[in-house]
This record gives sequence, C-alpha cells and structure tokens, in this order.
Amino acid sequence: MISATAPGKIILLGEHAVVYGQPALAIPLSQLTASVQIELEGDAGEFSSDWREVVRVSAPDIGRSGFLSEYSPANDPIALVIANVLKEMKIPRPPRCHIKIESTIPVASGLGSGAAVSVALARAMASAVGHELADDVISKIAFEAERIHHGTPSGIDNSVIAYEKPVYYVKDQPITTFQVKVPFTLVIADTGIRSSTMDSVEDVRKLWQRDPFKYQLIFFQIGEIVEKGRQAIRHGELENLGRLMNQDHHLLQELTVSSLELDQLTEAALSSGAYGAKLSGGGRGGNMIALVPEGTAGRVEEALLKAGAQRTLKTLVG
Ligand code: PMV
Repeated sequence: MISATAPGKIILLGEHAVVYGQPALAIPLSQLTASVQIELEGDAGEFSSDWREVVRVSAPDIGRSGFLSEYSPANDPIALVIANVLKEMKIPRPPRCHIKIESTIPVASGLGSGAAVSVALARAMASAVGHELADDVISKIAFEAERIHHGTPSGIDNSVIAYEKPVYYVKDQPITTFQVKVPFTLVIADTGIRSSTMDSVEDVRKLWQRDPFKYQLIFFQIGEIVEKGRQAIRHGELENLGRLMNQDHHLLQELTVSSLELDQLTEAALSSGAYGAKLSGGGRGGNMIALVPEGTAGRVEEALLKAGAQRTLKTLVG
C-alpha cells in the first residue's frame, strides 16, 4: 500500500487580486488533510489499450466509485493528475490499482480541498510508479488540475499546498516564503455555505472587464495591503496586521465576493476582541479567518459559533 497526504490552506491576504498579478500570502493548514492510498492489484493492463481501465477510484466524499474509463483527462482532475504523473515519469501506463481518496478538508469552502487532493494523488501515484517527484513538479501537476476546478487559477493553492510552507506568492514567479517574528493565532470559521471559486473569480472578471480602471485600482490596493502585511508579520506587529486584514475584507466586499454570513462572522470576531478578520479564499461562503490576541481564541470561537459558524478551528502561524 502506498500513501501520501497533503494539507489544506488559508489565504491570509490577497485573494482575487492575486489572479491579476498582485502578491498574496498563504499558509498551509496541517489540521486538515487530503489523503490518498494506492493498492497495487497486479500488472499493468497489458491487454487493455486504455490505461484508465486498470485504475479504480474510490472517493466517498464526492460520491465517486469506479474505473477511470468513463473520465477524460480533458475534464476530470483525477484522470488529469494521473496522466500528467505518467507523462512526467515517461511511463506509458500505470499498474492495475485501486486509489482511495479521503479528505477532512471541506469542499468548496476556500481551504484548498481540490489542490490538496491533486497534490496527495500526484505524490502517491509517483511513488507507485517509481520515485518521488520534486515539489515544483507536483505543484505544476496540481495547477493543471486546478484549471479544471477553477478556470483561471492564480496558482496560489497548488503552491502553498505542494511546498507545505507559508508563501508570498506572485503569479508566474518563483515562490518565496515569509518570515514570522512573533507567532500568531488565527481562528478559522466556516459559514457552512459551499461556494464555487470558479463563479466568484468569473464574476470579478466581469466587473473588471466592465470598469477596468476601478477594479485595477482595487487589485492594486489589495496588493499594497499584502506588502504591508508581509512587513507587519516580519516585525511582529499583530495589531497592524489585523487592521490590514479588515481593510482587505472591505476591498473584497467591493469585489462582491463577501456575503451576509461572512460579514456577520467578521463582525462577531471583531466585537469579541479579534485584531482583524476577513473572508478567506474565493468567498461568497466558505471560511473566514480572524487574527486574535494571545489567550482569546476560545472567546472568539464561542462568539463565532453564536453568530452562526458551523465549525471553528484555530491554528498557530510561525
Ligand atoms: O477558494 P479557494 O480556496 O480555491 O481560493 C481561491 C483564491 C482566489 O484568489 C480567489 C483564486 C485564485 O486562483 O487565486
């Protein structure tokens, strides 16, 4: 049995504007994971002309079970990841196998579930057919699958998840990490509303096409917030970082990607003492994050649950 896992992720600052070339900060979220197990079931499908006939996939979380034959790498992320691993390793067909995919990362909620499955699957399949692949190759393979999930992804999800470290990310540039002077606690709260990142990214694109000047300015302002946020983290200025998160949330509201529920949760976090709060990821639902002073996470989590959060989680950054 071969297995691999990959974490979830949170975008700290910069979502949406990152699609337009602005920087963004993201961290892996190790409490939530996607895991892939591959059981080898004999030789490669020598008598089968189509390798997909020898690969069986069980992914109960998305209600999927059966051979890959009905799925095409052109529009199925799982088939595409496997095809690209084989291509990368110059192997014509995979061994006959059963792939089990499980994940504790809620889907369509801004926590990188799709990219985490792709990264774990690429790692497991690479081990199953030969040797490990480097993080940049895994990230590239997951990015191709992200295109099916999201249409025009920036590449931030696959990067932070494949490298499994905090990233300062600019599209089409080598990733860099960022320094954390004073570790800080984030509370994450789920609205329980599933929302399509592809749709929210597409809607922002329509706004930008209609009024490029206005929206380019918003993207630019978000980019500036990210740069200031990176400095605040480097110098341990947590209150300042919280203020920047609030500003980012307001700009995301202008991009129409917040929602009543996300706004209610950010308000609840701020009224219970958080330094700052914002939606995280594609928005319109999914999760929000709050930066909280030391020792106050419990109080903020309680307030978030009272304000309608379906679940909360806390994570220490740095
Ligand atoms: O909703 P998520 O977790 O996939 O995050 C998407 C982040 C966006 O900036 C909205 C899109 C992207 O590709 O960067």
